Parts: sequence; C-alpha cells; structure tokens
Amino acid sequence: MIQFTEALNYLKSRGIKSPDTGIILGTGLGDLARHIEAEVIINYEDIPGFPVSTVETHHGRLICGLLSGKKVLAMQGRFHYYEGYSMQQIVLPVRIMKLLGVSAVLLSNAAGGINLKMTKGSLMLIDDHINLLPANPLTGPNHDGLGTRFPDMSRPYDPAINALFAKAAVEEGIELHTGVYAAVAGPNLETRAEYRFLRTIGADVVGMSTVPEVIACNHMKLPCAAVSVITDECDPDNLAPADIGDIIATAAKAEKLLTRLFKHVIGNL
Ligand code: HPA
Repeated sequence: MIQFTEALNYLKSRGIKSPDTGIILGTGLGDLARHIEAEVIINYEDIPGFPVSTVETHHGRLICGLLSGKKVLAMQGRFHYYEGYSMQQIVLPVRIMKLLGVSAVLLSNAAGGINLKMTKGSLMLIDDHINLLPANPLTGPNHDGLGTRFPDMSRPYDPAINALFAKAAVEEGIELHTGVYAAVAGPNLETRAEYRFLRTIGADVVGMSTVPEVIACNHMKLPCAAVSVITDECDPDNLAPADIGDIIATAAKAEKLLTRLFKHVIGNL
C-alpha cells in the first residue's frame, strides 16, 4: 500500500496549504500552467514516494499558485499506465490533492475522435466513460479513510461543474462537444477493428488516461470534470497512419482554447 503521509508532509513543508482546485494537465496541454501566478513549484522527483513522469512532452512538476482568483494546485505532466506505473501510483497525486483540501479537480487529456463529429482540434467535455484499462486503482484493501469499498459511479463527472463548462463555452464562443471517453492501456494506437468496436460500444473518443484519477475522485467523493482535446480522427473506414508529432502539434494548437475554458470555469467554481 502506498503511503501518502510523507509526500503530504513534504508538500506542506514547502508551503502548499489549502488549495481550492486541483488541475491535471494532459499530453501537450501544459500551457494553462503558464497562466498560474506561481507561488511554489516542486519537481516530482523531489517529492517522497512520488512517481517521476517519463513522457518527454510532460514536464513533471507541481505548481501551486493563483489562477482566476483561486488557489490552484496543478500537475504539469501526469502518470500513465503504459509507462509502467501501478494504478496506485497513478492516483497518488489526486489523493494528495484531496488530503490537501481541494474541493474539485479538473483534468484534461488528448484523445482520438471516434464519433465523426469529434473532429481534429475540437474539444469534448466528458460526460461519462468506459473503463477498458486492465487494472483499477481501487483494487486491494480499501482505504476506508478515503472512501467506501464499492463507490457509486452513476455520475462520475460532476453535473454542476459540467454545467459551468457548458456555460463557459457559450460565453467564450468555444465549441464544446459532450460525450463518452473510453480509456485503453496503450501505448499503441488502435487498429481499425478496435476503433469500430469502440464506436459500437458507445465511445465518442478514446485515450490512455484520466479514468484512474476519476475513479479515485469518485471514491473520495471529490467532484471532478474533464475535457478531451481531439488530436486525431479515428474513422475505421478511412484511417490514416497515426503520427505522434501531429497529435502533439494538434494538442498544442487547441490548448489555447482549453486554457480559456479552464480559466473561465475556475473563476466561477
Ligand atoms: N487512441 C488512443 N489514445 C489517443 C488517441 C487515439 O487515437 N489519440 C490521442 N490519444
């Protein structure tokens, strides 16, 4: 069982106190962090027990500071199952955010568009998910202090925060789709038959993250919301070879919209 206490005490000793909102930024989506008036920046490798991010496009640091008038604690760079981390390691940061006192967590990710409406460069508010990952962060002895053994998942993405996102999108003039995110392990992208399968089971987009953290949030009854940036189109009948450089570049272009949306919502939380 992973111990939180050391990491928690270390972060407190570095001056991180009572943040309002936790933010977890996805692949190629670190731009929002530049808008934070940073008070404390801590590299993951300095935090006892914290995993170190291995993906080159992830910075691997915690940033605490002010954004839209709120105290935020942002993870620039998250941990993925395909990097070899355990599910417990992947959800450690979100559990620490809860123990530090955040009242909501916002997440972003890069995802492939299954529903043909989810075109490259567009944004989708996640309303529900399908977990196809081969492991679950709640497996093993239950942390009774965090939540119950069998947490409810009937509304995994907080309806009130999602309503704030929908309103923010209208006010910012940003098109924001709503739909279902399917989480897969990766790291390979999907075959045409797999994309067809994902469409059939009701996925609008597919990605390799977010769901473990959302399960951990629901376990702790910590309200969360997540937005996908669509970086590639996954039409099984017309599939172009995936180009990771292109996926990252698309994320980089769309992240300006994501930043505006997140800032707007955080201001209204
Ligand atoms: N599949 C899985 N994960 C992804 C994709 C995809 O097509 N695009 C971005 N992340």
